[in-house]
Amino acid sequence: MNLRNRCSICLFATVLLGGCTPGTNEADVDTSRPTEFGYQTTPRTVRLQEGEAAYNFYCIGCHGENGLGDGPGARFLNPQPRNFQKAKFKFISTRFAELPTDEDLFRSISEGLRGSSMPSWGHLPEQTRWALVEYIKTFSDIWDRPPTPAIPFVTDPYVEMQDKSAAIERGEMAYHGFFSCWNCHPAYVPEQKISEYSIALGGPPRSGLREDIDRSAIKKDEDDKTIFAPDFHRDYVKAGTSVEDLYRSIAAGITGTAMPTWIDAAADGPEDDEGNKLVTQADIWAMAYYVQDLLKKRNVMIDPEALVVRSDREMRFGESGMEYTAEIAVDEDVEIFEEDE
Ligand code: HEC
Ligand code: HEC
Repeated sequence: MNLRNRCSICLFATVLLGGCTPGTNEADVDTSRPTEFGYQTTPRTVRLQEGEAAYNFYCIGCHGENGLGDGPGARFLNPQPRNFQKAKFKFISTRFAELPTDEDLFRSISEGLRGSSMPSWGHLPEQTRWALVEYIKTFSDIWDRPPTPAIPFVTDPYVEMQDKSAAIERGEMAYHGFFSCWNCHPAYVPEQKISEYSIALGGPPRSGLREDIDRSAIKKDEDDKTIFAPDFHRDYVKAGTSVEDLYRSIAAGITGTAMPTWIDAAADGPEDDEGNKLVTQADIWAMAYYVQDLLKKRNVMIDPEALVVRSDREMRFGESGMEYTAEIAVDEDVEIFEEDE
């Protein structure tokens, strides 16, 4: 330990208490960097300084000075920017209402949340993004809790198959017949078919389901703000469209909204008379393929006329601009899925 650079009070504290900078242990001291005011600067301190500087430059306008999600831009936004003091995160690989992993935060920062106003920050250096992860955790002491285990990523039984139609068919059955995702998201098959799927998976016949079942239900989030469960033929999903992303979103659920953790319900699924499982955790993969297939059909489902409301181009280009708008939107979709292959 280099004691020469320390002030005498610290030297005393060092001897008596084993250190004077809270949270600093000796192994963490970076001797390659200059000292400040006689203290050694630690890598963590440097990272937090970098995180704070980046936060104050890029994030403060929405997430606010104290991380409350109350920056000057926030009042125009729905959903609202995340409140980091509450430390409740939506797009995580842990269970409902648990703390996310650092990788989860890093992913949301790097990729952004498509269809919300949270941009992607993938253009910032990786080191800066990790520094931001570390810095936003300083807004709440909930982070002192021990880390929570991530949800299981069970083996994907369809991964080797060239043709994913078996996965998609199984996903359609699980989505409608057992998990009743149509309680919030739309149903994509007629009621009669839902009933058949339910019986096949050990459930009762179904009828008299919710009104307008071919549309999303309007839900409230934890802060009593209106939130839509996406219609996969129409809307964006925020946390990624690869099957791994969709598996994670479905398995873990979305904290603060009505969407629960599904991986445990899948584990406790029904059995037939011989004790064979009718529903398993692998069905989460099937639903991921199914939802991805619905999303892929999205560009053909959208009425080009409806695209106009998403863009101000037609105002600038007049009537001929409409064709241009539709073309751009379709191209964008094709690109997302090519990346995911
Ligand atoms: C233009 C406004 C805006 C800016 C700028 C912005 N965010 Fe966000 N951010 C949001 C919104 C809105 C949400 C919530 C989206 C939702 O709930 O669907 C969000 C959510 C998040 C989340 C939560 C993800 C989760 O799993 O719940 C993190 C982490 C985050 N932002 C980090 C950052 C960081 C770091 C920066 C700066 C580099 C930043 N944001 C800049 C608007 C913004
Ligand atoms: C009780 C209501 C409810 C049920 C049931 C439900 N969801 Fe959701 N789901 C939501 C809401 C609300 C959102 C939007 C969250 C947001 O945008 O912040 C959502 C979002 C999603 C997303 C998008 C995640 C993202 O990245 O934006 C997927 C995928 C999804 N749900 C799949 C499913 C599947 C599959 C099922 C059935 C196993 C299901 N959901 C059951 C309410 C529900």
